[in-house]
Amino acid sequence: MPGLAIVGTQWGDEGKGKITDLLARDASAIVRFQGGNNAGHTIVRDGEEFKFHLIPSGILHEDKYCVIGNGVVVDPKILLEEIEGLRKAGISVSNLRVSSNAHLIMPYHILLDTAGELKLGKLSIGTTRRGIGPSYADKALRLGIRVQDLLDEKILRKKIMAALDDKQQALRELAVRRRKLQREGEADDEVPIDDRLDLHSITEDYLNYGHRLEPYIADTARLCWSELDAGNKVIFEGAQAALLDLDHGTYPFVTSSNPIAGAACVGAGVGPTDIEQVWGVVKAYTTRVGAGPFPTELDDEAGRHMSERGHEFGTTTGRPRRCGWLDLVALRYAVRLNGTTALAMTKLDVLAGLESIKVAVRYRSKAGAVLNEFPYHQSILHNATPEYVELAGFGDEISDCRKEEDLPPAAREYLTFVSDFVGVPIALVGVGPGREQVIWTSAAV
Ligand code: GDP
Ligand code: IMO
Ligand code: MG
Repeated sequence: MPGLAIVGTQWGDEGKGKITDLLARDASAIVRFQGGNNAGHTIVRDGEEFKFHLIPSGILHEDKYCVIGNGVVVDPKILLEEIEGLRKAGISVSNLRVSSNAHLIMPYHILLDTAGELKLGKLSIGTTRRGIGPSYADKALRLGIRVQDLLDEKILRKKIMAALDDKQQALRELAVRRRKLQREGEADDEVPIDDRLDLHSITEDYLNYGHRLEPYIADTARLCWSELDAGNKVIFEGAQAALLDLDHGTYPFVTSSNPIAGAACVGAGVGPTDIEQVWGVVKAYTTRVGAGPFPTELDDEAGRHMSERGHEFGTTTGRPRRCGWLDLVALRYAVRLNGTTALAMTKLDVLAGLESIKVAVRYRSKAGAVLNEFPYHQSILHNATPEYVELAGFGDEISDCRKEEDLPPAAREYLTFVSDFVGVPIALVGVGPGREQVIWTSAAV
């Protein structure tokens, strides 16, 4: 049985959590391979809503391994809170495993992330302020602290000391800059910045987290190999999405990891030949949280329809998501980047009630050039105007449909148009948040 990657194809929040929960049914392990608690994945089971930030979305299947791979950045405090929440809900976490090689998010990463946002003032990226960027930066600088370091007091203290050295200075400088912004009335006053960091209390806290996490810490690459080698299906669950990819997304308005399928190998410790299927999750329209280019963004009735009917507010930060039409130029780019073999289209039900539906099929540059492909230069994208094809709307309600034949013809035409355009079959369609609110199409493998 193959490895199967599930990835986002837009700017996140496509419904990856729900699709992972569904496809996990015949898997033996579900592995998160990048990102951290900037992610927010929602699963609705029997009307009960579960939100996960770090724990893989397979956790509701208690008989499967749920793995936090080496490519994830782990805030241990948040992880312990999620474990506790699940225990309280009566869900076993005994099959949870955390890679000993995963890097940690430390309190100074969160401060630096917040301070960095304030530093840039109006040009901020709009990060989730969870410390993701600074943690990955420390990893690349080889100043990172890993999950395994939690188990050795001497090493932990030494590493925190080394990492803190330049952080104190950076935070002091940022605090000065922030005060200047405050005087100029530009600082975001909602978030207090505490620029004092105490080696002793951080070490004590993290030793305590390590003690509590110890039963879950493991050699997770080896676990993946043994499942794959035994012929079992392993799901590699991506967080964020292609257009937030550090290398291929709308840099610098991206996250600090690689959410595309190729990164599953690095972030879990398996080889490219271990992954046979790649499922791209696409929302029937587009949303984006935070700043950055978004050619099909709407500020009209249709956009408000998506926002309201789709409850488009961030799972992690509660921020309203920007909404717009489906962008097939960007989707085709994401499909190719990921080597996508099938698409799962979520939230088709949200488009019901609209008289007609548009999809972007090309862009027009500021100079008037026709752009059939996602532009490689960011300035062109910033100034690109989408050109649309208008398709028929499909009535008021489709959330009770369970088979392709139940869908109104116009909804089926929408699916066909999208899959023909990007050249990949749509295997699964979401018609509501519930686990059962899906349609497996004839293209499902
Ligand atoms: P993720 O980050 O990709 O896992 O997506 P989120 O969980 O952040 O956001 C997706 C939201 O849409 C969640 O609230 C889901 O419960 C919800 N959702 C998922 N699929 C569908 C669907 O087909 N229809 C509707 N109406 N909601 C959906
Ligand atoms: P899931 O997994 C949507 C966005 C932030 C910001 C940018 C950088 O739920 O799809 P970061 O905190 O990562 O440094 O922020 O990336 N972002 C997401 N947007 N869904 C997510 O995750 C996101 N994770 C990060 O809003 O614009
Ligand atoms: Mg989300």
